[in-house]
Amino acid sequence: MSDGHTDILAIETSCDETAAAVVRDGREVLSSIIYTQIAMHTVYGGVVPELASRAHIEKIDAVVLAALEEAGKTISDVDAVAVTYGPGLVGALLVGVAEAKALAWAAKKPLIGVNHIEGHISANYIEHPDLAPPYLGLVVSGGHTHLIIVRDYAEFEIIGRTVDDAAGEAFDKVARAIGLGYPGGPKIDAAAKEGDPFAISFPKAKVHHSEYDFSFSGLKSAVLNYLNHAEMTGEEVRACDVAASFQRSVVEVLKEHTVRAAKEFGMRKVALAGGVSANSALREGMRKAVLDAGCELFVPSPVLCTDNAAMIGAAAFHEYVRGVRSGLDLNAVPGLRIGER
Ligand code: KG4
Ligand code: ZN
Repeated sequence: MSDGHTDILAIETSCDETAAAVVRDGREVLSSIIYTQIAMHTVYGGVVPELASRAHIEKIDAVVLAALEEAGKTISDVDAVAVTYGPGLVGALLVGVAEAKALAWAAKKPLIGVNHIEGHISANYIEHPDLAPPYLGLVVSGGHTHLIIVRDYAEFEIIGRTVDDAAGEAFDKVARAIGLGYPGGPKIDAAAKEGDPFAISFPKAKVHHSEYDFSFSGLKSAVLNYLNHAEMTGEEVRACDVAASFQRSVVEVLKEHTVRAAKEFGMRKVALAGGVSANSALREGMRKAVLDAGCELFVPSPVLCTDNAAMIGAAAFHEYVRGVRSGLDLNAVPGLRIGER
């Protein structure tokens, strides 16, 4: 403890960002370093797991040192070392887990394994001191789409999920199909600003007879069919119209399910999380929909929506306070589910 504060060094390497941060009391970011591998993976049109692991190994020491330095701390000053241990790419996760274990062991600090999805949700606590459970959370990332009742800091009830692709995955696949490249989300977001969201009528990303689940593969197929048809008939394809129309379909269903769940479960607060919550149309559309429903919306700044270690430090604080500690046998769990330890 420094001056009665709890400072946690957090490490995140679950996908293609090598990140470390020092977070005070789960809310205040003393430093946050993110080394993104996006440029390296762009050549291949997506994340290559083997390359991601190697790049994490090359960068992790420097990223951790930079985070400590920016916070004006040494490893002996921090109260605990936290690390994402799942879900994610196994080889990528292992790099962070090994680094955190080595640091915790050498400096005799408690080790705390953190669930990546809980990390995304906790990003909201950093900028919104007034947010506390219970609330409704919508996690939309490259690997996950979950509608969750956050009953307490470590108590979650999943009420809806995607039955096929994740929302971010759909953005990435559609972006590739219309030639925008990787990473798809930000490129569709930008292209959609130039397009007409009502130009093409795509189906909604829904599952029949399921109020809160999502399905994005039908929408993705509809986009591909539209493109094939246009190619066969020689029709001109305006990529920005496809982007805007696809995005509208995604945003509509996310809004509908979220508002319905907030009403049904009596939640007055709604929090967005995950890479797709950086999407400008989703942020704007959801804000209005949630406000119209008489609720309050919480969204992290875009840099805290996509992968970072500050969110892992925020999540770890609540585990730390509850006395949760991981052993030096902590392992990467690629399929780790939310609320599971
Ligand atoms: O949370 P995240 O960084 O990593 C995972 O845990 O998956 O999310 C990455 C996903 C990618 O699919 C990316 O295309 C999407 O978030 N994304 C966006 C935007 N920025 C990132 N999707 C839509 N609009 C954006 N502005
Ligand atoms: Zn993530």
